[in-house]
Amino acid sequence: MAFDPALLDLGYLLAACLFVFGLKGLGHPRTAPRGNALGALGMGVAVLTTLAVLAVDGTGVIGPELLVGGIALGSLIGWIMAVRVEMTQMPEMVALFNGFGGAASALVALSEVVGRVTTNTIPDGFELWVAWIAIGASALVGWSTLTGSVLAMFKLAGGVSIFGRWISTPTWGPPWLNAVKALLTVAVVGLIGMSATSPGDLSLVWWIVGLSCVLGVLLVIPIGGADMPVVVSLLNSMSGLAAAFTGFILNNSVLIVAGSLVGASGLILTFIMCKAMNRTLFDVIFKSFGGGGKERVTRTKVGSDPDEVAMILDGAQKVIVVPGYGMAVSQSQHAVREFADILAEKYGTEVLYAIHPVAGRMPGHMNVLLAEASVPYEKQIEMDEINAEFADCDVALIIGANDTVNPAARTGEGPLAGMPIIDADQAPTVVIVKRSLSVGYAGVDNDLFFMDKTMMLFGDGKAMMTGLNAALKES
Ligand code: TAP
Repeated sequence: MAFDPALLDLGYLLAACLFVFGLKGLGHPRTAPRGNALGALGMGVAVLTTLAVLAVDGTGVIGPELLVGGIALGSLIGWIMAVRVEMTQMPEMVALFNGFGGAASALVALSEVVGRVTTNTIPDGFELWVAWIAIGASALVGWSTLTGSVLAMFKLAGGVSIFGRWISTPTWGPPWLNAVKALLTVAVVGLIGMSATSPGDLSLVWWIVGLSCVLGVLLVIPIGGADMPVVVSLLNSMSGLAAAFTGFILNNSVLIVAGSLVGASGLILTFIMCKAMNRTLFDVIFKSFGGGGKERVTRTKVGSDPDEVAMILDGAQKVIVVPGYGMAVSQSQHAVREFADILAEKYGTEVLYAIHPVAGRMPGHMNVLLAEASVPYEKQIEMDEINAEFADCDVALIIGANDTVNPAARTGEGPLAGMPIIDADQAPTVVIVKRSLSVGYAGVDNDLFFMDKTMMLFGDGKAMMTGLNAALKES
């Protein structure tokens, strides 16, 4: 029995619609869980449609045993990873999954290439040279996404442990590196062109794979400091593009649609991140702002204690909480929420949350944590909107944020140069909860810690917020 192609198209169309509605839902934290579920449902429909084709007419890219086996194995690995990953390692996992997406597309393209070279087959409805360009493009984007994402993962983690020895990930970008990247790109494009005119030469394909892997590393290695969010979003977009190219090779419409959606939404996110950093994509990729090493902090500052801070908060009318990566590390979001509840109950204080677009280690990191602690979305206010409010608040409480409140960004130098920041330094009193005076992700010393109006609460975020809450209750 043959499968009616119209039913296949219908299944894929339904899946594509679900992806689009899913993405729409992901645009706002409140609708994001529904968007996520719709996207997953869309993927389920796409997989079931593919399985149905296999079951009815036995045609497809791979047999049902491999398909079902692959789904089972992939689900098991994904489940183990999701269960074992610490909340603080989520950004690394997201980066790695981007790489896996690129690698999966590149591997499918590679198996197609080898299959076609050995059987000399031309795909239905495709000019041979078009197929080979798609194969080359998928390989270029997919393999560079894999190696770039693995390096990005290690950069987000700060390094890698090899035989118990911690090796920090380098940020390296000599001026001549751009020329090397340009040369390599031209070489890969040339190789893709050659493979399109003489399809059948497998050695060209191995060169494309090898050079693309090197390109991925060279793309990410010069990027460090505060610019990492841009490159992580870009890699996300590239993994989608690789899938779309592979969709062309397989003549699979749902893969083209899903890949294009990931590519386009990843690119939009990349530009949002560029805007957040006040940089152009060209500058991030070719100018390497994040090249500096960690600064050594030599100044000192006497710390305060929770009782002292509780006294300052006595009768406060408006407090702005500025969360950062340290809130994620200390998992203090629930204590932060309790802090707001106590203040509201005791003094009727209005507590707002200032969200920097690149705070934490992944887009929306702070929103996710605060939502987990049931902080209302309308209290989570974006940087551009909240900055005007610091001058008339009583206290800005910074919990585990550093680069995103560092006034050094207003100067024209260093890895943070030009990045818009949360204007917490405009508040009459600033309280900072962190363990030490050490620098943030970009490695830049922070003058805000040393201002007269700043009180430092040295310690783990959760322990300090719990102590502050207890002191507030007793005051
Ligand atoms: P960071 O500049 O990373 O600083 C976080 C601070 O948290 C550190 O200075 C650390 O100081 C403190 N901290 C760590 N563990 C803590 C704990 N248990 N309790 C209390 N404090 C703790 O934070 P940020 O302001 O959120 O800035 C984010 C940075 O990461 C930006 O440079 C951004 O560009 C970069 N980045 C962002 C992303 C995305 S997509 N958001 C991705 C990659 C990189 P102590 O050690 O003294 O405690």
